[in-house]
Amino acid sequence: MSVQAPQRRLTAPDIRARKGGEPIVMLTSYHAHTARILDQHCDVILVGDSLGMVMHGMESTLPVTLDMMILQGRAVMRGSQRALVVVDMPFGSYEASKEQAFLSAARVLKETGCGAIKVEGGRRMAETIAFLVERGVPVMAHVGLTPQAINALGGFRAQGRDPADWGPFEEDARAVAEAGAFSVVLEAMAEPLAARLTRDIDIPTIGIGASPTCDGQVLVLEDMLGLSPRVPKFVKRYTDLGPSIGQAVAEYAREVRSRAFPGPEHVYPLKKNV
Ligand code: KIV
Repeated sequence: MSVQAPQRRLTAPDIRARKGGEPIVMLTSYHAHTARILDQHCDVILVGDSLGMVMHGMESTLPVTLDMMILQGRAVMRGSQRALVVVDMPFGSYEASKEQAFLSAARVLKETGCGAIKVEGGRRMAETIAFLVERGVPVMAHVGLTPQAINALGGFRAQGRDPADWGPFEEDARAVAEAGAFSVVLEAMAEPLAARLTRDIDIPTIGIGASPTCDGQVLVLEDMLGLSPRVPKFVKRYTDLGPSIGQAVAEYAREVRSRAFPGPEHVYPLKKNV
């Protein structure tokens, strides 16, 4: 009898070791059922705070709470076996101090069982990232367009389109790498800038609207499936599930209204001897 070895989950060091190697495949998921599908194809599943906008119809990610992240993080861990699961730290849960960041990150790791957390911010987060990493918390960083800073940035706009502005982005990427982040998301960034950062820093870059030369790519699952009403310009829709769901629901509604549902083959008959 052969006994199958349990599947080993990818870890933050496994992803860190992919710098310059096989591209890292990452998508977001907030549910056990989508996590189960993604797990067969993705190296990293991100429980992004985009769940506030995608699942809850919020205008931004700012209202998302730590409890919301933990609830969905647990669901994704239940649905997956192989991918590294990274949970986003929501706005207000880590910026006040490195101690606050550690307490929030510890809750996320303990209560979800995930393998890493993600924080937004470059130089301003470097000290916190080093503090977390020294205490055993693997950190993915996120620079460029950082949606939690939407009010300060003035909108969801591409970053670094003028080479004269590149300095701070380069400093941000270098700072998080030196602080010990195991990878960094580059969001909505001019392509040559993202390509340059990918060349210049020694941790994997994961692009979203950045550059095909990044060490990996991430998208919001619902955006690439055609389920989001508004998507950023850079998103490729791989399918268009919205209209198919609409058609299925319309057919169901027609059947219910015409009493054609459930069909006779779905109705339990009485037992013969009752
Ligand atoms: O919250 C999220 O989904 C993200 C990705 C867009 C990188 O941070």
